Parts: sequence; C-alpha cells; structure tokens
Amino acid sequence: MSGRLRVGVLASGRGTNLQALLDASSRPEYPAEIALVVADRERAPALERAASAGVPAALLDPKGFGDRAAYDAALTALLEQRGVGLVCLAGFMRILGPAFVRAWWGRLLNIHPSLLPAFPGLNAQRQALEHGVRVSGATVHFVDEGVDTGPIVLQAAVPVEPGDTEESLAARILVEEHRLYPEAVRLFAEGRLEIVGRRVLVKGDRR
Ligand code: GRF
Repeated sequence: MSGRLRVGVLASGRGTNLQALLDASSRPEYPAEIALVVADRERAPALERAASAGVPAALLDPKGFGDRAAYDAALTALLEQRGVGLVCLAGFMRILGPAFVRAWWGRLLNIHPSLLPAFPGLNAQRQALEHGVRVSGATVHFVDEGVDTGPIVLQAAVPVEPGDTEESLAARILVEEHRLYPEAVRLFAEGRLEIVGRRVLVKGDRR
C-alpha cells in the first residue's frame, strides 16, 4: 500500500520489538510499513526476522568506520535512501551521536523497559528489582541527546511480583512493549504526536 509512513528500525539483538512492528505493518490498515532494518552486528537475529518478512536489511558494522560521526552519517544516508520518515530504536546497543540525534529530532523513537524517568540506561529490570519497586513497565519516548531522557510518548505499567527474577520481570514487561511500540508508531503515522517543550501531546487523547 502506498502512502504509508516508511519506518527504519535499528536493532542489535533478538528483535522481538522489531517483530511486533513487522507484524503490525503486515496489516493493510496499519498506517506504517518497515522500509529498512539496520543492525550493527553480524549475527543479530533481527536481520533474519527482516529477511523472513521480505524487508530490506543492512548490516552496518562500526568496525568499518573511523569514528562515530562517519558511522552516523552512513546510517543517515541509508535511511534517507529508503525514504524513511521515522526511525525506531529497538534494542540498538550503540549510542548515536548528537549530530544524528539532532538530524532526526522528533522522528526518532526508542523503547525502554522501565517507567522512565526511573531506571534509565542498562539493566533497567535489575535496577527495578534492586530498588524494590512494586510497579515497573515500558516507555516509548522520543530520543534526545541524553540517555533515555527524551519526551515520553506512551507508557504501560506491570506489577513486580514477589520472587521475580530479571528474566521473569523482563518477560512481563516485554508483553507490554510489543503492544506499546506499534501503538506509538501508529500515533506518529497518524500525525497525532506533538512535542511541546519536554512533553508529548497526543491529539485526540481524551484522558
Ligand atoms: C527491549 O527490552 C527494549 O525495551 C530494550 O532492549 C530490548 C530489546 O529487545 N531497549 P528485542 O531485541 O526487541 O527483543
């Protein structure tokens, strides 16, 4: 279907969030399609998921680039070649430089396995368990130059159960991630997200 938003997904690992986006975009009424998947490591299962879905995929290995700026410029070139209008980070384990973040400001989303601003950075589920919180969850946010600090688009909460391990909590959060990310992309594609200062206004949101 033409006229759909073209989304680029950057992933380093198993790619279950990528899969959720691929599954959503396989529905004709969904207003976005995955135009390109980029991985930064060779054996990323995300690349196989892209191949299975018949979506173009590229491996952009940092080893081939002199510095971060050169890598980021190559990434932007690839995304622009494919006509990408929204970039989704989905377990992309590489920090993107300020020039990339500025170039894609307002068109760059990330998903994080905590209720931000709590527990940014690595091992969010372990941080949640160590703090003894009773509730955690998932956040989709626009990316700014900080680590997991950008304007929040959507969040979903899950309980932390007694006896939870990092794995059991991560699995419970992941269920929500797979629902939240396609929903956030849909809102973006429908032009319903507006960044106002540090906050995101969701048009038509009656809460
Ligand atoms: C997810 O937990 C996501 O929130 C975080 O990295 C993980 C990626 O998982 N940013 P997957 O590769 O999508 O399965």
